[in-house]
Formats: sequence, C-alpha cells, structure tokens
Amino acid sequence: MASGTERSGTGEWGNVSLRPMVEDDLGPVLAIERALFPEDAWTEGMFRNELAGRSSRHYLVAEEDGKVVGYAGLFAHRRAADVQTIAVRSGLWGRGVGTTLLAALLEEAERRGCGEVYLDVRADNDRAQRLYQRFGFERIGVRRGYYEQAGVDAVVMRRTRASGSEKRG
Ligand SMILES: CC(C)(COP(=O)(O)OP(=O)(O)OC[C@H]1O[C@@H](n2cnc3c(N)ncnc32)[C@H](O)[C@@H]1OP(=O)(O)O)[C@@H](O)C(=O)NCCC(=O)NCCS
Repeated sequence: MASGTERSGTGEWGNVSLRPMVEDDLGPVLAIERALFPEDAWTEGMFRNELAGRSSRHYLVAEEDGKVVGYAGLFAHRRAADVQTIAVRSGLWGRGVGTTLLAALLEEAERRGCGEVYLDVRADNDRAQRLYQRFGFERIGVRRGYYEQAGVDAVVMRRTRASGSEKRG
C-alpha cells in the first residue's frame, strides 16, 4: 500500500487521519456498516475478501483520536475503478471526513491510471449524491429496484478526468 495514502488534517473538531484498512479494523468497521446499512450491510466475509484482493483494492480507514470514524474502498481494474463503499459514523457527518476519504480514493485511481471511476448510489441518498457531484461524478444510468429489500433504485455515476477537473477546478 502506498505510503502516499496516509494524510492527516486538523479541523475544528480534532485530528482525522487516513491509513490503509487492516483486518484488525473490522470490528469498528462492521459496527459502522451495520448501523448505516441495516438492510444490506456487508458481512465480515465480504470485507475480508476485499482486503485479500490487495493488488486491485485500496481500502482506507479514517481515524480520529485513535478511533475508526469512517472507511472507504476502491476496486481498480485496468483503466477504470469502482468506489465500492464509503461511510462515516453517523453523528460525525458534515465535517469533511467523507470528502477526505473520497479525495484519497480518487487520487489512488489517478495514480493507477484509471481514467474513469464508477459507483452506485441509492436514488434516495441525496447527501452522498451531492458529495459525488462535487467531485465531478455525473449520473449515467439507473438500476431499477437494485436495492431489493427497500425497493429503491440505484443511480449509476461516473467521473472522468474531464468531468472531475471541470467541477473541482
Ligand atoms: C455520504 C457520507 C459518506 C458523507 O460523509 P461526510 O463525512 O458527512 O461528508 P462531508 O462532511 O465531507 O460532506 C458532507 C457535507 O458536509 C459539508 N462539510 C464538509 N466539511 C465541512 C466542514 N468542515 N464544515 C461544515 N460543513 C462541512 C460538505 O459541504 C457537505 O455538504 P453537502 O452535503 O451540502 O454537499 C456520510 O453521510 C455517510 O456515511 N452516509 C451513510 C453511508 C452512505 O450513504 N454512504 C454512501 C453509499 S453510496
């Protein structure tokens, strides 16, 4: 894992730093996951599989005062990448942790030469969609009823180098 993924910042609310996710993080990661995605939380096995796929995956945790407060993961394949997951502990939203995590994933995608980054987001998740749009992600399609249990569509979004630089420039 590239050391360049580690970064930290001091904000009004304390120190948040990013580092690669390791198996020992799965306790707090799963607690956040289950609280935020009660209907379709990833299992421990799913996270372990992602961490086992090191060469194509890039998983980070955000830590504050030694506690995991968020995480995010990227799957990079040839010239494209997928944002697999991103989450910040509820109660700590709106302080830039999600932005910091997403920026780090996109930097990694760029470093790996991925010209396009894709993701799926629930159609009713306005907050996440706003975050993605700020980074230049654009809606390119809808998967009807993708989140089966909730009966909610997934919006498919894509960020290209051009769309990213337009919105962030
Ligand atoms: C989506 C999610 C990851 C965003 O994380 P976050 O830490 O709240 O994200 P940020 O704080 O970087 O940005 C969110 C908002 O806070 C604002 N913000 C960021 N830093 C800020 C700061 N220092 N002070 C005030 N506001 C700030 C941003 O402008 C942004 O505003 P907007 O929503 O109006 O665009 C988080 O809400 C989450 O975990 N949601 C549940 C899981 C989920 O939906 N994941 C996505 C699945 S596709």
